[in-house]
Amino acid sequence: MKRIGILSIGEMGYHWARLLRSHGVEVLTYAGGRSEVTQKRATNAGVRLVPSMRELLAESDLVVSVVVPLAAKRVASQVARSLAKFDKRGLLYLDANAISPMTAREIDQILSPAGAIFVDGCIIGSAAKIGQGTLVCLSGPQAERLEELKASGFSTRVLGTEIGQASAFKVVYAGLTKGLQGLFVELLIGARQFGLLGEIMRQYEESFPGLLAKVAPSVVGLKIHAGRRAEEMAELSQTYRHNGLRSVMAPATKKLLEAVAALDAGTASGTGEREGSLLDTLELFFDRGLLRGKGPE
Ligand SMILES: NC(=O)c1ccc[n+]([C@@H]2O[C@H](COP(=O)([O-])OP(=O)(O)OC[C@H]3O[C@@H](n4cnc5c(N)ncnc54)[C@H](OP(=O)(O)O)[C@@H]3O)[C@@H](O)[C@H]2O)c1
Repeated sequence: MKRIGILSIGEMGYHWARLLRSHGVEVLTYAGGRSEVTQKRATNAGVRLVPSMRELLAESDLVVSVVVPLAAKRVASQVARSLAKFDKRGLLYLDANAISPMTAREIDQILSPAGAIFVDGCIIGSAAKIGQGTLVCLSGPQAERLEELKASGFSTRVLGTEIGQASAFKVVYAGLTKGLQGLFVELLIGARQFGLLGEIMRQYEESFPGLLAKVAPSVVGLKIHAGRRAEEMAELSQTYRHNGLRSVMAPATKKLLEAVAALDAGTASGTGEREGSLLDTLELFFDRGLLRGKGPE
């Protein structure tokens, strides 16, 4: 794979692009209609901006979708419509968004008739740790072909040959990470109110060494990503429902994350870096009224 198209250069796309570029792979994106910060991140990461979706698809050996879960199907449809207009069969398309397995199967149905080869994927770990521990999980009949990404420094793992397996894996993994973020936000704001913040953090560390330190960067990231993470909790609930199960924890986490998103507490940086500390972040959430009048009920 000499040229890889990424839709779009958000925080994750930025780190993918940098790693690929550092291994000599050319990275392209089409940013028509995207925000200024997405275009700026593309330039900062050395990504070539092409003028049309058609050009992106024509030039790429693989297209990676790392958008937001709600946009995953829309982006796949846009790609399918564009692909259908010219003769290119066999384009590899990886969806690495946190979507439900049902959505992954729908995307397969959208792309296959247009001649693309769909690989279901998910990313376990943070964008900043791509190439340093963050794992790209893959599934589907042709998932093994993307093991080639290892040559560009990615950690990859094929989970199986079925579309939907990688997405299901992410759904249950995300329930843990987002659940911990929601729980820590709620409990630490309470401890702050009782004048016990330092004490409880010390106790958490003693009882669960390393846990808060591990989750803290993701709590800081909520300033920007709470809305997208709330969507992931909706995907979890839907997946459970689809399989005859009822989720109780995911809807609660979703509510809390939506309340954080409504604070409008941060803007994405042009380098994909997360700014601020855990304590600053909690203070900001508190100042903006989180858990005090401003939802969730
Ligand atoms: N960040 C992480 O650490 C992390 C970790 C694991 C998995 N993931 C997964 O990676 C994916 C991307 O996450 P992220 O953190 O990079 O999100 P992000 O920083 O919010 O970036 C999302 C990107 O998608 C673009 N986008 C939104 N709607 C679009 C559409 N309809 N068509 C094309 N592009 C669209 C956005 O452009 P605009 O700026 O124009 O809105 C932005 O560039 C998510 O599915 C997430 O679950 C992320």
